[in-house]
Amino acid sequence: MTRISSKVNVKVITGFNSKTIRSGCRSLSSSSSVFKFVPSGTDRNSLKIPNEKIRTLSYKYSYASSYNTNLRSRWFSSSPLGTLIPPEEVKRFITDCMMKVGTPKENSQSLADVLVAADTRGHYSHGLNRLDMYVNDVKTGICDSNALPELVKESAATAFVDGKNGLGPVIGNFCMSLAIKKAKESGAGWVVAGGSNHYGIAGWYSLQASEQNLVGMSFTNTSPFMTPTRSKTPALGTNPMTVAARGEGKDEFVLDMATTAVAVGKVEVQRRKGEPIPNGWALDKDGKVTENATEAMQAGSLMPLGGAEINSGYKGYGLALMTEIFCGIMAGGKYGPNVRKWMSATEPANLGQCFVAVDPSCFAPGFEGRLSDLLNTLRNLEPIDPSKPVLVAGDPEASHVKEVKDQGGIQYHVNQVIACNNLAKELGVTPMKAIN
Ligand SMILES: NC(=O)c1ccc[n+]([C@@H]2O[C@H](COP(=O)([O-])OP(=O)(O)OC[C@H]3O[C@@H](n4cnc5c(N)ncnc54)[C@H](O)[C@@H]3O)[C@@H](O)[C@H]2O)c1
Repeated sequence: MTRISSKVNVKVITGFNSKTIRSGCRSLSSSSSVFKFVPSGTDRNSLKIPNEKIRTLSYKYSYASSYNTNLRSRWFSSSPLGTLIPPEEVKRFITDCMMKVGTPKENSQSLADVLVAADTRGHYSHGLNRLDMYVNDVKTGICDSNALPELVKESAATAFVDGKNGLGPVIGNFCMSLAIKKAKESGAGWVVAGGSNHYGIAGWYSLQASEQNLVGMSFTNTSPFMTPTRSKTPALGTNPMTVAARGEGKDEFVLDMATTAVAVGKVEVQRRKGEPIPNGWALDKDGKVTENATEAMQAGSLMPLGGAEINSGYKGYGLALMTEIFCGIMAGGKYGPNVRKWMSATEPANLGQCFVAVDPSCFAPGFEGRLSDLLNTLRNLEPIDPSKPVLVAGDPEASHVKEVKDQGGIQYHVNQVIACNNLAKELGVTPMKAIN
């Protein structure tokens, strides 16, 4: 029996037969956790682990067994068994699915790049989890995946782009390249696009600027999901915002966040996993805080960043409104509660998006050095819990990227893979091949 120290997290997964338990144990590894797979009905006392250290995740074997032939049993974050798939294979799958519904190869690849970047960075809510949404938008013809963005007007430092109802990442890449070009020529580039669609993780765009030693920013409006402080009704999107800036070498600050407590995709992921959501993420249909992911998705009512008014949720509400000004209002597209409902394919989304690049060399010299100095000062602050060092924005994603590189693949929750296999069958494309 493994001896468990009081500092170690123990995750106990029940509901598996001995074959699954063995394959799970072989491939599990973690510096801070011990994982134990035990069959259904195991007596907790027989585990000889302090009760408060046990986190039980009941996961029905019958569900996993349908996937067992190709299953490499791993653990990531709070998920039970998962499947390891090389990023290139995920890109191939996304590209195939999008081409199958009539998207040109280049546009399909642009979408695949941003979805795989989301999963590689650990934002599983915005990677494969979103593929069926893009497929549906194209299949129903509500998004024109053949369209290319058009420049409507420009000045030395600004541009207004008509997305022509094309794929969000195709429009986003076009706009960010333009903002970068303007920043290199004029010191700053501010580009606004209308007629756009969901563009994936906002950080994909700010990173394009920071890779070229510019400060990058991006914003998008989204379907109304946020219930403003004191309201019962959702009226703004999860409206993400991002700022990326490079310090010395590849050191980077990458703030990339929804202005709701979390992105809606994270609630979806919890629902997909059949797990609860933390208090403070969402409200039910009566405006009460809920921990039930299904109830939260049904009500479509997320709390602003900060949560309730007492916890300064009105600041998240303010940031979402600021984002909307840069996006729907500036682009002359849909805004606030007028943006179409989430997943509804009744009318084009007509989202507004904003892309900014600024050249820090236009200001005091030594930007990179000072930035890294500050980032490292913060990282080196004494943490409250020695096992949890102080981080700066972008660090969690950077370590996830490293993890994916080290293990040669992205770990997907088994339910996600099942959903993709179903999609593969429906579209007649080759399913993703896992690493065995
Ligand atoms: N396109 C859309 O419609 C849309 C809508 C909403 C969100 N999103 C995307 O969803 C993704 C997830 O958003 P989210 O708000 O759930 O992200 P999150 O809460 O996981 O992270 C937000 C930010 O906090 C930083 N962070 C996390 N832990 C930290 C710590 N301990 N110390 C310091 N910084 C820390 C992260 O690096 C990140 O920059 C983002 O990429 C966002 O762009 C997209």
